[in-house]
Amino acid sequence: MRDFNFCNPVRVHFGQNAIRHLPAELADYGPNVLLIYGGGSIKKNGIYDAVIKIMGEQKKNVFELSGVMANPRTEKVYEGIEMVRENNIDFMLAVGGGSVIDCTKAISAGSRTDKDFWETFFIGRGECQDALPFGTILTIAATGSEMNSGGVITNWEKKIKTSYGHRRLFPKFSILDPIYTYTLPKNQMIYGAVDILSHIMEAYFSYPDDGNVSDDIAEALTKNVIANLNVALKEPTNYHARANLMWASSLALNGIINIGKEQDWMTHQIEHALSAFYDIPHGAGLAVVHPNYLKYVYGNAPKKFVRYAANVWQIPTAGKTEEKIALEGIGRLQQYFREIGAPTTLAEVNIPAEAIGEIAAGTNLLPGSYHPMTREDVKNVLLLCK
Ligand code: NZQ
Ligand code: ZN
Repeated sequence: MRDFNFCNPVRVHFGQNAIRHLPAELADYGPNVLLIYGGGSIKKNGIYDAVIKIMGEQKKNVFELSGVMANPRTEKVYEGIEMVRENNIDFMLAVGGGSVIDCTKAISAGSRTDKDFWETFFIGRGECQDALPFGTILTIAATGSEMNSGGVITNWEKKIKTSYGHRRLFPKFSILDPIYTYTLPKNQMIYGAVDILSHIMEAYFSYPDDGNVSDDIAEALTKNVIANLNVALKEPTNYHARANLMWASSLALNGIINIGKEQDWMTHQIEHALSAFYDIPHGAGLAVVHPNYLKYVYGNAPKKFVRYAANVWQIPTAGKTEEKIALEGIGRLQQYFREIGAPTTLAEVNIPAEAIGEIAAGTNLLPGSYHPMTREDVKNVLLLCK
């Protein structure tokens, strides 16, 4: 196990009607609250009304930043920073999914500096010296942003989608009511689950492979997500399934399963480039890239892929080579993505093969883990995704 530091300071209120904890949380902050949300789903399903009512009872002055788009863009962050400054905002409440929460995190860092948020943090990787406090009300099980300190923003003009994380950017609290996810469109439920599975794999398929407890948790989490997604697809209002998916989203990226692991994250870098050029949903891009990425790197760690095939997909191993078992396991993952209706090729997300060169050129390179990744390697992975 690699050395680690771990601290997760997010207070989680989980369960049916968890919003009842909002008044006590808001009481800690001043009167001017910026409510941040997306394209309007919270107005249709009643969450907006519930939040506004509580804010009124708490005598808060509510300002609203609405229309945060999926794959949130720099413009929205600048708009939010302006609103914070003009209205002397004391606290922000993000109500929505990863896009709304990430936009809020960028506003949190950007509104407490005179410098340009994009250049300073997302490009320059500068230290976040101060942050405006915020809480979240989660409406989709996907990114884990509700319980981590990272955010992903897109600069659409420059075709750059990139992340920034800092320990000052954890939400102060997150309210997780599984019932809020009942109204999710089916495709968003699927993309969210793919994202959760992908986060687990970014940690699991990396060195060291030393019987780390994180890997055991990762396998259990993977099986739980698959089982509960299968139920939720058939019964969208099954509380048990939605509750498990919601908590799995947090567990997959709140730091726990990353403990002691090198982690990979190259699939995410490639997906971010796909979204930066073609604005596709994050989970859709991951469903296309992750199985193909694994096919590209498995040869350097076949034993881990045998373990994955046997433990997660119960693939019989007797009499087979490690390579065959490994490829069967990855094939099963890809087949599962097809079965649930996620795209598995670039063509299915309307990305032409001719774009592969520019997408590879625009991909942020990280060291990877099993297989050190060059730009040529990224191109080869994308060619497998055609
Ligand atoms: O905008 P509204 O109208 O609210 O609709 C949203 C949006 O269209 C809809 N939705 C969410 N909850 C709903 C609902 N519709 C009906 N009922 C509900 N209860 O779902 C759509 C997608 O929402 P979005 O917030 O974009 O989804 P997600 O949570 O998957 O977030 C994706 C963004 O997060 C980034 C992604 O790259 C992408 O930009 N990520 C953030 C991470 C992090 N901060 O830790 C890590 C991830 O790897 C990821 O990169
Ligand atoms: Zn992700």
